[in-house]
Amino acid sequence: KKRAPMPEDILARKGGEPLVSLTAYTTPMAQIMDPHVDFVLVGDSVGMVLHGLASTVEVTMEMMILHGKAVARGLSSAMMVIDMPFGSYEESPQQAFRNAAILMKETGAGAVKLEGGVGMAETIRFLVARGIPVMAHVGLTPQSINTLGGYKVQGRGDAGDALMRDAQAVADAGAFSVVLEKVPEGLANRVTAQVAIPTIGIGASAGCDGQILVVDDMLGLFTAFKAKFVKRFATLGEDADAAIAEYARAVKAREFPGPEHVFGDAAPEARK
Ligand code: KIV
Ligand code: NA
Repeated sequence: KKRAPMPEDILARKGGEPLVSLTAYTTPMAQIMDPHVDFVLVGDSVGMVLHGLASTVEVTMEMMILHGKAVARGLSSAMMVIDMPFGSYEESPQQAFRNAAILMKETGAGAVKLEGGVGMAETIRFLVARGIPVMAHVGLTPQSINTLGGYKVQGRGDAGDALMRDAQAVADAGAFSVVLEKVPEGLANRVTAQVAIPTIGIGASAGCDGQILVVDDMLGLFTAFKAKFVKRFATLGEDADAAIAEYARAVKAREFPGPEHVFGDAAPEARK
């Protein structure tokens, strides 16, 4: 059994073999991905993917802690990173530290992730100086959906310079890696070439230092919508639909339960 990587190990993978990561929210899914990924993100996407929320803005510390604990029980060789939910870190570095410490103590996560670039650099520096490894997240930052005005591609044209400054700022502040979400391929490649920490792409570029996807998206389990950057590697949602339809048919036809699923009336002879 290999030792779970530390943030330092992730940092050292800059420019090397691509880092593999996925989100997870439950113990069994964490167990399935554990041997295949370098780190698992307990993403605040849990709010939309498992709880039916319209955005990640409504996700709470309690939800993150509950799902973080579940994921931790399923991991032995992958590192766990946990998202700081909207409202738990933006106010001040002190607020961020207090809540990041709670997330790490309660769940055992080895690092936190938060959204923001230049504007969060001071907070990232504050956390890292006090023992909290931080993964940053720039480009499309879904917690800011209400000011961004939609899940649009970020950093096109003139906005590219600002995005580059965001990525540079979080690297300078001590983040051990940075998620680039929904940014043009060329810009993602330039950021990857210029910043010293691993870039983790989602809707970015195969040239990033690693990739992440929402597991329910890539398995075809979450089908309310599909972003262009999602590749469905399986169709588990369709499989579940077909299985449940077949169950319903079998129940109505009294084909299920079958003889192998029911219990005899006679007492067993010897029950040791
Ligand atoms: O919450 C999430 O799933 C994320 C990833 C998409 C990076 O932040
Ligand atoms: Na997130």
